[in-house]
Amino acid sequence: MKTLDDLLAEGARGRVVLVRADLNVPLDGATITDDGRVRASLPTIRKLTEAGAKVVLLAHLGRPKGAPDPAFSLAPVAARLGELLGADVALAGDVAGASAREVVAGLGEGSVALLENVRFDPRETSKDDAERAQLAGELAALAGADGAFVSDGFGVVHRKQASVFDLATRLPAYAGGLVLAEVEVLRALTGEPERPYVVVLGGSKVSDKLAVIEALLPKVDRLLVGGGMCFTFLAAQGHQVGGSLLEKDMIDTCARLLAEAGDKLVLPSDVVASADIAADAETSTVPATEIPAELKGLDIGPESVRRFAEVLSGARTVFWNGPMGVFELAPFASGTREVAQAIADSSAFSVVGGGDSAAAVRLLGIGEDGFGHISTGGGASLEYLEGKALPGVEVLES
Ligand code: 3PG
Repeated sequence: MKTLDDLLAEGARGRVVLVRADLNVPLDGATITDDGRVRASLPTIRKLTEAGAKVVLLAHLGRPKGAPDPAFSLAPVAARLGELLGADVALAGDVAGASAREVVAGLGEGSVALLENVRFDPRETSKDDAERAQLAGELAALAGADGAFVSDGFGVVHRKQASVFDLATRLPAYAGGLVLAEVEVLRALTGEPERPYVVVLGGSKVSDKLAVIEALLPKVDRLLVGGGMCFTFLAAQGHQVGGSLLEKDMIDTCARLLAEAGDKLVLPSDVVASADIAADAETSTVPATEIPAELKGLDIGPESVRRFAEVLSGARTVFWNGPMGVFELAPFASGTREVAQAIADSSAFSVVGGGDSAAAVRLLGIGEDGFGHISTGGGASLEYLEGKALPGVEVLES
């Protein structure tokens, strides 16, 4: 696999380098609530600008319906990039059209532009190879004869999309530093991790995590389950879960997983429950096995936190994906905060698996230094751990 360093050794001065980054940040209106992915993209961008490249960033934001939609514009990201880089970042008004061509033509050596949300073009996510290839061709044309492509959006390497996969077949392609670093960490987890190896899984749905649970169960020493998904497991054990999130059609699957896992799989023993999901909700802590019908479990309780923390304190390797509760709201944040803190306090090599868990670490003010690695890719890191091929990485290896 060719890397960014190879490109720099070949010489990047004056060349247009298209960089696929993952700048899919959470927004509140036009305000970025966690700029972790923007920051994680900076080292590759800086290396290229210092080498005199004309850097053209490609990125998506959210899941627009294949047409321009101002709610999904990358304008807030262009502004934030500009602040962090200390230089203007021009935003093209389209993906590969007249505006993109004009912006690229106007770039000087060492400067940076961003194309508008690549998912505004329906060909980006098309299942039709020819459609994706056509968009990739238009993007490659922006780079001109001596252009290059750097794949640095680890969070999207599990997507077979035009700007991730097809473009890498159209231009000399190189793995960026972020993709390389992320893959190296995950490879260490799938190899011979130091034991005990403890995985903490949360988030709302079991169905989203089923494949990774199946893949991890034989490999881990303990699997701690919190978040909305724990209630389907509790229901599978025959407990009342009140109004908590429940995937009825997954109850049988959870019962099977519980039987297979034995005491490896640890569920919460108490939960913070409320009738309302609100910042000023009244809460009570109830046994996880007896949640009153009128209440919903919205966080793991203090006794569960203690039990989880005890397991984590003895771990040598930890992977964590998914919050323990509705951490965005103060009454339901402490399970996630304290489990994150327990991971940070343990001497284990710890990996935070992207998405909400990475955002939670930063939003809850837990020092990032306590973790071995905070991934930028939620779905991508889970798919890697499931043993699935990542098209955006494979294409760089071919
Ligand atoms: C993510 O948020 O995990 C990545 O940016 C990928 O986004 P997607 O799930 O919409 O492809």
